[in-house]
Amino acid sequence: MRIGVLTGGGDCPGLNAVIRAVVRKGVSVYGHEFVGFRDGWRGPLEGDTMPLDIQAVRGILPRGGTILGSSRTNPMKIEGGVDRIKENLASTGVDALIAIGGEDTLGVAKQLYDREVNVVGVPKTIDNDLSGTDYTFGFDTAVNIACEAIDRLHTTAESHHRALICEVMGRHAGWIALHAGMAGGANVILIPEKPFDIDRVCEYVESRFRTRYSPIIVVAEGAHPIEGQIELQTGTLDAFGHVRLGGIGEVLAKEIEKRTGKEARTTVLGHIQRGGTPTAYDRVLATRFGLQAIDAVHEGDYGKMVALRGTDIVRVGLDEATAELKTVPVARYAEAEVFFG
Ligand code: F6P
Repeated sequence: MRIGVLTGGGDCPGLNAVIRAVVRKGVSVYGHEFVGFRDGWRGPLEGDTMPLDIQAVRGILPRGGTILGSSRTNPMKIEGGVDRIKENLASTGVDALIAIGGEDTLGVAKQLYDREVNVVGVPKTIDNDLSGTDYTFGFDTAVNIACEAIDRLHTTAESHHRALICEVMGRHAGWIALHAGMAGGANVILIPEKPFDIDRVCEYVESRFRTRYSPIIVVAEGAHPIEGQIELQTGTLDAFGHVRLGGIGEVLAKEIEKRTGKEARTTVLGHIQRGGTPTAYDRVLATRFGLQAIDAVHEGDYGKMVALRGTDIVRVGLDEATAELKTVPVARYAEAEVFFG
């Protein structure tokens, strides 16, 4: 078989580990051939390929990013996009595709599968918000980076008696904020799933200062106040209709200063959470996902996404995986709330 591989959407530590596992097992165990498609769905859409053999995947296990490149190209928004992909797959002799991506990339994979493209999905996102899998690789790395940042913020906040806000990624789901905030002992954690009350946040800040201890506020970029409390600006949209976020941390700092009279400053971690070397946990998870994905393709088990359930790697339908986002349940947030203030 000749198998195409692509990585789409925001990159994430561990993508290269998946590619390596797919190619290593695919070539050495099954004798398949591979072709890399560059920059997500742009690759098959434009027939932009690169060689993908054992030599090409040597040394990439610990490397962040993706050797295939990525993009947020949405072929469903392009006139004749699906037909162009099918033509390019046929002309490059590709029998099946492995698409590594988040909700958007896998949503496209699902629609292509419905139109008779042989495709298997691998879940990727630092946000950990894909249904059907307990965890996505990249999440552990992002949480560890954010946790280290929070540890560092604690010590400088203490010296200057400031409230420090740490803005982390998480557009619709607050998993990174929840885990990093819990691990880092945040004074309060704000997530998109639960609109926050700025008066309550300020009470937490003041109570922490009263104990002569400086508050650290961890906020997910998609968090927002209760309607009408603070005015927020809106950003531009990408090809999948997502608004470009970033800025809630600054808004919070201004409000906290205004309402409490205490100095408040913001650190936006941004893409630092996405770059660099994956943790050992993410390397192992990504590798196991890659091994399962090539098994699925070899067996002709298309329309599936590989997933982690407990400690097992299983296959679930792409429809199940992309049906709805996995957000933070109320009970999980309540666990963290015990430590607020
Ligand atoms: O989807 C993952 C993610 O990390 C989101 O949390 C974030 O909003 C988005 O990517 C930002 O990606 P980019 O800056 O590449 O558009």
